[in-house]
Parts: sequence; C-alpha cells; structure tokens
Amino acid sequence: MSLTISNEQLQAAASQYGTPLYMYHAEKITAQYQQLQNAFEGVYARFFYACKALTNLAVLQHVHSIGCNIDCSSINEVYLALKAGFNPEQILYTSNGISFEEIEAAVEAGVSVNIDSLSNLEKFGKAYGSRYPVGIRLRPNIMAGGNLKISTGHNGSKFGIPIEQLTEILTIKEHYKLRINCLHVHTGSEIKDVEVFIKVADIFYDLVPSFPDLQVLDMGGGFKVPYQEGEKGTDIPLLAKRVGEVLNKFEKSYGKKFQVWFEPGKYLVSECGYLITSVNVIKETPTVIFAGVNSGFNHLIRPMFYEAYHHIKNLSNPNGKVKIYAVTGNICETDNFAWDRPINEIREGDLLVIENAGAYGFEMGSNYNARFLPAQVLLRDEKMLLIRKRDTMEDLLKNQIGLSY
Ligand code: LLP
Repeated sequence: MSLTISNEQLQAAASQYGTPLYMYHAEKITAQYQQLQNAFEGVYARFFYACKALTNLAVLQHVHSIGCNIDCSSINEVYLALKAGFNPEQILYTSNGISFEEIEAAVEAGVSVNIDSLSNLEKFGKAYGSRYPVGIRLRPNIMAGGNLKISTGHNGSKFGIPIEQLTEILTIKEHYKLRINCLHVHTGSEIKDVEVFIKVADIFYDLVPSFPDLQVLDMGGGFKVPYQEGEKGTDIPLLAKRVGEVLNKFEKSYGKKFQVWFEPGKYLVSECGYLITSVNVIKETPTVIFAGVNSGFNHLIRPMFYEAYHHIKNLSNPNGKVKIYAVTGNICETDNFAWDRPINEIREGDLLVIENAGAYGFEMGSNYNARFLPAQVLLRDEKMLLIRKRDTMEDLLKNQIGLSY
C-alpha cells in the first residue's frame, strides 16, 4: 500500500469536500510508529505521541488503535486523549507554566505528570507528598533544534527547572518525601543530531544517585522529518542503537533497568498531512508572479512563523512549464507559503497541495480575518473519511454575545 496520497486522491477529496482542505493518511502514521517500534526492538522504550501536533479526535483514535501512548501539554489534551480511548496509564502530561489546579486535575485523572517549576513542585509536595509518583522536567542548558523559536533546552528557555537548581529540587523532594520516578528533558523540535539525546542521557546518568525512585528517563520529542527534497531526518536506527548502549551502561553502573520514553509529534504526523488549496488569483508584476490561494497563515502558519519550507505541487497542471512563484494566502497582511519557488505553471482555479502539513498545521490555525478553519479528511483503509467539518458562519458566532441595543 502506498504511504503517500496520490494526486488523484487529493483531487477527488477536493472535489468532494471543497478547498481549503486538510487530508491525512492514517497508514502513514502507523508506518512511522512501526519504524520506531522496529528500530527500538530490544530497547526498553515507550513512545508517547505529542498530540499538540494534531489533536483531531479521529487521529487520536487511530493513534490509540495502533498501540501508541500519548503525551499531552494541557489538561484539555488529557481529556481529549481519554475521550479517544487511551487509558490513564498510557497518558503523559508534561506541564509548563500552568496553574496548580491543572496538575490536580491531571492527578485526579490518574495520568503520569511531569512538573516544570520549583513552585509547582512545592505545591505538589504539600498536596500529595509521597502518595502520587511524579516526574520533573529539567532544563539541561543545551541548545538544540531547528531554530530558536522551537529550541527549549537552552539557558534562556522558560521550560523546565534549570539543572543548576538541583539542590532546591532535592530539598523539596526530601521535605515532602516525593517519589520522583521520571526525569524529563525536551530540548527542542527538529533535532537531527542523535548525540543531543545522548548528551541528555549523560546528564541523567549523573543524577541517578539523587533519585532512588527513578524508573523512567524521558527524552522528549523533536525527531526531525525531512521537509525539503534531499534533506535527511533524524537517523532513528542510530538513535536506537546509541540509546540501547546508554541504557546498558545505566544498568551496569546502577544495577537497575531504566525505561526510556520519547514524545514524538512531527515524526508521527507531519508527513501524513496535506493542505489542498485552490488558486484564486494570478498576479504578474514586473518582479514577482504571485499565486494567491484560498488559504493563508490562518491555516498553516509554519512558513510565516518559522520560515519553514513546505513543498508545493500543482495538482492541476503537473506537466506545465516550471516558473518561479510567490505562493501567497488571502490574509490581509503579508502571508506567504513560499517565496521564489519553482512550480509547474499555475493558472487561476488550479489546485495546489502543500505537503508535510500534518504537524502543527491545522492545530495552529485560527479564524483570523473571520475565515473558516478547513475541513479535515482522513484516508484510512483506502476510504476517505470526513473527520472535521469546515467551519460555518454559525461557528464564528457561537460564543459571541452581541449587544442588545
Ligand atoms: N514533548 C514536548 C515536551 C514538547 O514541548 C514537544 C513540542 C514535543 C514533545 C514534540 O516535539 P516534535 O516531536 O513535534 O518536534 N510548532 C512548532 C513545533 C513546536 C513544538 C513544541 N513542543 C513547529 O511547527 O515547528
């Protein structure tokens, strides 16, 4: 079975559901998960899908059906995960900058919790003491990831408890008899260099003696996927090999088997997703040819926010003469999907597909300019399933309370 969605299938979806449209391939998600499982065979590892990348309920249900666990970054994601059928044992909640009430709600739900501030750790101690095992998120002061906006482990980052505050962590731990069973580090997104994870493991290695209840080494997510042609993603088999070696070292030194957890988001759902758009306007100017589509950064913000590259294909004219385009959205401010991009000749009415849009695409979408969020379709078992309807005017108004004058 092909793990990409063909031009014909994308066109068929566009004509059935209209554009702009997000389309996802369920079996591609399965295949990505299986690649992780295969690579890590024999390594004591568990994978938690970082669902912030794409929380559509049907996608969560699919991820659940293939046996993957789930990582949540808000209590609402925890509730969505429960709704999708995950049991609390499969759910991890890594909090950041949140009120203690959310942590209480996560404990109530019975899920694993990682805490990322001394202040919440103290509150946790007061509330639960040794009654509920807990993980802590550390800031290792390592710079990693595709760009500064998605780097989270460096010494200016808001994430995690800085490693230099170990004494304070241990004081709270002793005082409240906390059972710290997990150490967590997530250094960023799009980490190509496997050795970043090994550096994190080295930090964990030195910390083991301070945490007698430790069972889990959580190395976060951030595996890179290729966006540009010819680009390479994280070498997963190499990562598995290196992590396996590291775990053996831990076992030898400490006479104890530790489990390693990962939280991949992009790796599982980026490549499965496509944003299909229609071309509204071709504007030839003396310097640039603009192809204006019926979408924008309200549907896929990655190019404008991170200057991210997404491959764009003309579905309607795949053999047309290649020309250089700026592909722009219809939002009323600068709104590019691509700059100086060679694409087969684009005509008004053509369908353009923006690839690799599964992760952080729809999910970071908005109703800016009072535009509707696109519908979402899942290709699963060769069947096209509508998994979210396009917004309507009613959706835009449903929480608004106008003046009654
Ligand atoms: N675990 C934690 C604690 C995280 O904060 C994240 C992502 C992940 C796992 C998953 O990372 P991934 O495997 O997807 O790289 N919106 C940005 C990415 C932000 C990632 C935020 N945290 C983008 O579109 O590039």
